This record gives sequence, structure tokens and C-alpha cells, in this order.
Amino acid sequence: MADFEKTMEQYSKLLARISSRKGVRELASYLEKHGLFKAPASTKYHLCVEGGLLIHQVGVAKLALKLRETLMPDKSEESVILCALFHDAHKVTDGFGNQTYDKNNTATSDRQPYFWNTKQLGFGGGHKSALLISKFVDLTQDELQAIAYHDGPFVPSWDDIKSDPYPLTLLIHYADMWSTWVIEKVKTRNFKGTFLEDLKTELF
Ligand SMILES: [Fe+2]
Repeated sequence: MADFEKTMEQYSKLLARISSRKGVRELASYLEKHGLFKAPASTKYHLCVEGGLLIHQVGVAKLALKLRETLMPDKSEESVILCALFHDAHKVTDGFGNQTYDKNNTATSDRQPYFWNTKQLGFGGGHKSALLISKFVDLTQDELQAIAYHDGPFVPSWDDIKSDPYPLTLLIHYADMWSTWVIEKVKTRNFKGTFLEDLKTELF
């Protein structure tokens, strides 16, 4: 579990850097209470292991901060961390008491380790994150768009904003894609385990 402890430490440090935004602590506590530290990052694609979501969140935040330095140095660091760290809040819960993923107790190397909970709120993932975060934090216009549309052109709703994406939306989207498909997917390609303890590779 050493790697996960390191991830937890990095998560706490990133969280502490969003110190001037009201409601962030409460948002974090809410997500932690509803399973943030156990949730996978997906049903079968990237980091589909216990704790996978936290590793993903931390990874996206670190990449987004690197992009910020080069592309948007005037953008508030707090804003970038907030969006990156919580863009996938909907992967913990829908905010109405339903968890996002159900563990597949009969998972084998041929069967996916998690299922999508069909009882949760039927709502687009990014939009669900934006809705959930907004219950705790007063988001700016570009933060709201960056979170709601972080999937970019991979979801049909991209049509809503395709001619007017804010720079922050593109930055979070790119950090998310790079983390998912380049770092996580490639490094865990041969990983067949179901639990984080089995994943020895240090990702970030
Ligand atoms: Fe993500």
C-alpha cells in the first residue's frame, strides 16, 4: 500500500493549496464519506481498481499544474487544482446517496471488475460532477464549463460549446486525456489484478 499512501499524501497537499475557496473542505469530506478513497476510475478501462479514482485525480491535477505553468501562467493555481482534482466527482456518487460503481464480485481476468450502478441519477458524467461540486463551492463560469465538459469531443454534449470552449476547459480535458490514455492505460496494460495492493507500478 506504500504507493497509495503516497497518493493520499499528495492529495492532501493539493487540497491544502485550495485554501481560499469556501466549501472545498466540505466537498472533500462529503466525497471521502461517500467512498472517494475506494472508488475505481472506471468499470474496465483505466485504473479499474480500489483507490484508482484518487490516483487518477492526483495525476490529472499534477499534469494540469504543469500545463498551467506553460499555457496559462496567470490563471489561479487554486482554480486549476479545484477543477482537476474534482472533475470526476461523479465517479464517487451522484450526490443523492447512490454510489457510482458496483463491484463485480465474480470478476476474473476476463470479466470487468466494476459495473455502472444503473440506479443513480441519469445525467451526463461531467454535468453530474458540476452539479455535485456546485452544492458546496461557488464555481466561476470557466470552472463550471471546464468540469461539465472535461470529456471534450468524446461525449455528444461537446456540441453545446464546441465553438466557444474556455481555455480552462481545454486544459483540464487535455490533462485528463493524457493521464488516462498515456500514463494510466499504458502503464497498467498488463495489470490483471482487482485490488490496488496488487498494482506495484508507481504511476505519478
Ligand atoms: Fe478523469
